[in-house]
Amino acid sequence: MSEPQAQAVDTGIERPAPLPFSIAFDPRDEEELLGLWRDILRSNRWSDGVHTRAFEAAWADETGLEAVAFNNWAGGALAALDFIGVTGETVLSPSNTFLATPRSAQWSGASVIFYDCNREDLCGSFADFVETAERHRPKAAWIVHVGGHIAFDIEKIAAYCRDKGIWLIEDCAHAHGARWNGRAAGSFGDAGIYSFYPTKTISTGEGGMLVTANPELARHARSFRDYGRGSGYRIEGMNHRIDEFTAAMGVVQTRRLKDIVSWKRAYARDTLDPAYPNRLRLPDGMESGFYKYIVFDPIEGGAGKVYELPCHRIMKHPVELPNTDWVAANHWCVPIHYPRASS
Ligand SMILES: Cc1ncc(COP(=O)(O)O)c(C=O)c1O
Repeated sequence: MSEPQAQAVDTGIERPAPLPFSIAFDPRDEEELLGLWRDILRSNRWSDGVHTRAFEAAWADETGLEAVAFNNWAGGALAALDFIGVTGETVLSPSNTFLATPRSAQWSGASVIFYDCNREDLCGSFADFVETAERHRPKAAWIVHVGGHIAFDIEKIAAYCRDKGIWLIEDCAHAHGARWNGRAAGSFGDAGIYSFYPTKTISTGEGGMLVTANPELARHARSFRDYGRGSGYRIEGMNHRIDEFTAAMGVVQTRRLKDIVSWKRAYARDTLDPAYPNRLRLPDGMESGFYKYIVFDPIEGGAGKVYELPCHRIMKHPVELPNTDWVAANHWCVPIHYPRASS
């Protein structure tokens, strides 16, 4: 893989000062959150209570799907893969993603096969997905919505998977608030998993949410996160429950999501787009949640890359993924953090 030439390009266009990193939490929500935490503290219900239900209801509302809360993305991913039954099977994964994506399949006892991405959107390529699926006959596949928009090839990949009986799981860790022609991330495949890790568009410290239109998958996930309770312990789950303090924060944060994403969209449109002509371009009908703002020129004071090193290189898979290597070498992120002082 060639090394990136990380020299800032002088376009002659004046650029805004880079925003400092901040976790997206609006100070206007502090009193309400502290009040909720006080109520929980004084209650006798610190797990699996009304705040967990409310957090799930908020994500059902956000995505139009059934929602099951977890203590992190990994719990939701393992629950979905367990429902599908991937042990001893093949699972496709993009390589331009966080190691969590292929690792979840590996941890579930599957063989991971990587497929390439597109240069335009950094997400899974339909052409390479089909070629890889024809060769390896996977039972399931991951697609990752990298950077905050929905993968441009999602509809074609989802249609192909439906036709071939391949389960498709969407890694929505970056895609809070994203829509394509009105549809939320997680609604194209069989399930989607969101993360609420501190760098994410909204955070609860740790936390995850599985969304699905499949009631059996949702039922399985609820049991899986609780050692298989409710299934006569037939489902061999572990503890991936979310606690009530985290869930309450999730309710408050989800209510603020629209403001945060609107702010990011306006900042991208009004401040960053004029300064970065060589940027990732969104197709018609796509509303990115702008987890990241991606450009294809080296920049000074940037927020690095979405991923520096592709997963097939970390996991030492001897596979040629030219677009994935190209993306790793040729994209950069301009900071787009929701400012704390916005109250
Ligand atoms: C694409 C992607 N998938 C999965 C994860 C894992 O999420 P969590 O840390 O909540 O398990 C992350 C980041 O944290 C991610 O960026």
